[in-house]
Amino acid sequence: MARIHAAITGVHGYVPDFVLTNADLEKMVDTNDEWIRTRTGIKERHILKEPGKATSDMAVEAVKGLLEKTGTDPMEVDMVICGTVTADMHFPDTANIVADKVGMKNAFCFDLNAACSSFLFSLVTASHYMESGRYKKIIVIGADKLSAVVDYTDRSTCILFGDGAGAVMLEPSEQPTGVLDYILKSDGSGRDLLYQKGGGSLYPCSKETLEKRMHYIYQDGRKVFKYAVEGMKNTLLEVMKRNNLTKDDIKWLVPHQANMRIIEYVAKMADFPMERVMINIDKYGNTTSATIPLCLWNYEDQIKPGDKLLLTAFGGGFSWGSILVEWGKPGK
Ligand code: ACO
Repeated sequence: MARIHAAITGVHGYVPDFVLTNADLEKMVDTNDEWIRTRTGIKERHILKEPGKATSDMAVEAVKGLLEKTGTDPMEVDMVICGTVTADMHFPDTANIVADKVGMKNAFCFDLNAACSSFLFSLVTASHYMESGRYKKIIVIGADKLSAVVDYTDRSTCILFGDGAGAVMLEPSEQPTGVLDYILKSDGSGRDLLYQKGGGSLYPCSKETLEKRMHYIYQDGRKVFKYAVEGMKNTLLEVMKRNNLTKDDIKWLVPHQANMRIIEYVAKMADFPMERVMINIDKYGNTTSATIPLCLWNYEDQIKPGDKLLLTAFGGGFSWGSILVEWGKPGK
């Protein structure tokens, strides 16, 4: 029997309507538009403001668009993975909630948390499930409502993050396509440099955790910056080397959108022209698990079946990696 590959056959995304600009942030903390733009590349970010709305609500919008675009009945979907660090609740899984809201009653669902690398880890995991030959339609989501865990009195983090969701469809193919190769890495010794400590089993929610603002995201930006560029660069170059690829073989570089300076550095190290680097950090900020699928959605019209893409990310944990992907080519 021919080997089954996981073709990426569609992408869709969603960002909430409300836009938080750098000028708005100037009124909230001691910062300015010039600092934010030159240090990060961010001009504005979208925030999910409506009370009672959560990560799953954005994921639902992305998934509904994906189902429509790919002509898929929700009952045909047999698996959903949601990459997220801001699940609606500790449990049940957000993927489960999304499946219920959309009517994907035949899918088995789970969340995957690898911080900003959640989408990459989820895509690789889903591809292996597809390669088992047991699944026909798998949806991989990257979705986060970081505004729920951002401290809007901390200027070093509140300027960085935005909310959003993206989703891709995987279908079986007998042609080599989808995830062609990958390097994913984890190093838990980085846990003290980027985290959200409060509310877990180590520090359950209490008066003290609230007073110490432990339910907010914290990062040592300068140190994380150095690990991020090294991690993304090293895995990217290794994937290119072991597949004998030069920049001319790759149509698009799709980096996690944490900082424009990181993106530029990684592109330079891979000798990659910026015209072929997907960027949305200027309008969305860092949407964590959603940055890469949102990029794919934004640039969808410019990607053709057969194009090779390099996806790369770095996040808390630490967790990082690079994936070589070929777009499209479903069926035989
Ligand atoms: N406005 C004005 N000044 C500021 C602001 C602000 N919003 N934030 C910090 N500053 C000040 C600092 O206080 C500091 O002042 P000092 O020199 O007087 O002490 C100065 O600016 C420089 O601060 P740095 O932290 O060194 O600034 P840096 O250039 O490193 O930029 C940033 C900070 C944007 C956070 C950067 O370090 C970064 O992008 N780091 C990597 C982030 C990342 O990749 N995270 C991983 C993914 S996220 C996830 O997994 C959830």
